[in-house]
Amino acid sequence: MNVPIYDTIKVVLVLGLLSCFIMINHAFIADSSPVGSLIGRAAHDHHFHMRKLQEFKSNFFAQEHVSLSSSPSLSPSSSSRARSGSGVYSVIDYGADPTGKNDSTDAILAAISDAVSVEGDGFLMQGITNLGGVQISLEGGIYKISRPIKLPVGGLGNIMIFGGTLKASDNFTTDSYLLDLSSSSSSPNHGYNYEFVTLRDLMLDCNFKGGGIRAVDALRTSIDNCYIAHFTTTGILVQLGHETYIRNSFLGQRITAGGDPNERNFTGTAIDLQGNDNAITDVVIFSAQVGIMISGQANMITGVHCYNKAHGFGGTGIYIKVPGVTQTRIVNSYFDYTGIVAEDPVQLHVSDCFFLGDAFIVLKSVRGVVDGTNIVNNMFYGSNKGVDIVQLDQTEKEFNEIGQVVVDNNVVNGMNTKATVAKGVTRVNGTSWTVDFNEILLFPRRIKFVQHSLMSNASNLFPKTILRNISNNQVFIESDMTVEGSASVIVDQGLTISS
Ligand SMILES: *[C@@H]1O[C@H](CO)[C@@H](O)[C@H](O)[C@H]1NC(C)=O
Ligand SMILES: *[C@@H]1O[C@H](CO)[C@@H](O)[C@H](O)[C@H]1NC(C)=O
Ligand SMILES: *[C@@H]1O[C@H](CO)[C@@H](O)[C@H](O)[C@H]1NC(C)=O
Ligand SMILES: *[C@@H]1O[C@H](CO)[C@@H](O)[C@H](O)[C@H]1NC(C)=O
Ligand SMILES: *[C@@H]1O[C@H](CO)[C@@H](O)[C@H](O)[C@H]1NC(C)=O
Ligand SMILES: *[C@@H]1O[C@H](CO)[C@@H](O)[C@H](O)[C@H]1NC(C)=O
Repeated sequence: MNVPIYDTIKVVLVLGLLSCFIMINHAFIADSSPVGSLIGRAAHDHHFHMRKLQEFKSNFFAQEHVSLSSSPSLSPSSSSRARSGSGVYSVIDYGADPTGKNDSTDAILAAISDAVSVEGDGFLMQGITNLGGVQISLEGGIYKISRPIKLPVGGLGNIMIFGGTLKASDNFTTDSYLLDLSSSSSSPNHGYNYEFVTLRDLMLDCNFKGGGIRAVDALRTSIDNCYIAHFTTTGILVQLGHETYIRNSFLGQRITAGGDPNERNFTGTAIDLQGNDNAITDVVIFSAQVGIMISGQANMITGVHCYNKAHGFGGTGIYIKVPGVTQTRIVNSYFDYTGIVAEDPVQLHVSDCFFLGDAFIVLKSVRGVVDGTNIVNNMFYGSNKGVDIVQLDQTEKEFNEIGQVVVDNNVVNGMNTKATVAKGVTRVNGTSWTVDFNEILLFPRRIKFVQHSLMSNASNLFPKTILRNISNNQVFIESDMTVEGSASVIVDQGLTISS
């Protein structure tokens, strides 16, 4: 019951957390400095993390004192209406046509405009009015729209749009998005437009006129149980901001369940993450040229099933274009005839995934850097065509800065195993022997570590052996006497400590 002491504990805890955050942040900066000189983005990322820390601090200490009246200039809804009754706004009440015949753009925009002008409950992030969870309900209808559905101003948060179908009409502007969370008037100081906007239980039919959802500089956006089809450009585009969480959703340019005769003509990108700290969880991508394009950092992909366009037709499941500072985790996902491409991966983790139909992973050299990359504990299944599970694309440049790379423990059926760690056994009968690891090692002409042991049942035989040569991924060993038995060799292409 001793409130002051309890408060003190809270403050101490928070300060502790803050210092943890600072320490982690510093560790991060120190860690990334070796690649920082190579890639300008690392410096950018540093600023990004510092910005986040500043925001966290200022927002935490300011939060208790902020209210609508204390900073009226930040309030987007100076003409806000007092709350009365339900916070659910039905678009049909505003004249939208749930049969999908008449254009409903104006009606939906009017419902949204009313919903976001209710009196809020202070701020979420500073400058973002907390609208308390107002809901814009599509009431299970189908609505034809000819312009993007946008929020009228920036600086809004805690809003939900849910429960129905939006369909682009034939005159919908082709370079825009059905649901567009962007704003020309971003909230002051922080640059975030929106926070905690939830788009749920929606079907978006882009009618081959543009994209599905765009979130620009939005924070903590939820896209949940959405079905997005017939996009020409992008199903979901996330630019800047962070923490857009895309869950339990289905995306495809054409509505198909595989084996589509038009598969080679699929275009567009299902999800394009041009920002940091987003998550895609339990999502199926059933048609598009590229399933997920990633050009931001610290994004997390879990439980995604990509069968968007077979590799053989030029498709890619996930394309990671953050050379030098990748920081991407892909786990427990399913690559169905389409794989992963990562440019200069530095901190990439791919594990517990299933690759079907000769699907594979490409490490593509841009500046020749690969480091901090784990490709472990995956399953690969192919059709005995000799396809390597992991491949190097060195057409632009050879990988010449190879750091800590672990490709190991993958189970492979009908494809060629590639690894950075390998074990070999050979029969020995003579004074020298060679074990060739070219079949399995991922990087050519690179062995960093060798361990060797000899087995022979000839009694009183204690040969001296020496490792003579490891060039060209072949381990060559010589002995001072004839040995009849077998030799076991372990090699590793990864980092080793040397002194
Ligand atoms: C659709 O538009 C027509 C013509 O303006 C109108 O008569 C009809 O009531 C509208 N239907 C709905 C459901 O709004
Ligand atoms: C698109 O067509 C609808 C009628 O179907 C019309 O109401 C709307 O104004 C048109 N929009 C544009 C941008 O031309
Ligand atoms: C695919 O597109 C090409 C041209 O880009 C076209 O000639 C062909 O008919 C299309 N295939 C199908 C099955 O639509
Ligand atoms: C080992 O080599 C010798 C001589 O070359 C040969 O006589 C012998 O049979 C070989 N042993 C085995 C197990 O192959
Ligand atoms: C190692 O073996 C390669 C051929 O595999 C040879 O070209 C090279 O000269 C050898 N190096 C040494 C130090 O013997
Ligand atoms: C020794 O090993 C060889 C095969 O390497 C085998 O043929 C032979 O029987 C073994 N001898 C004994 C005594 O175990």
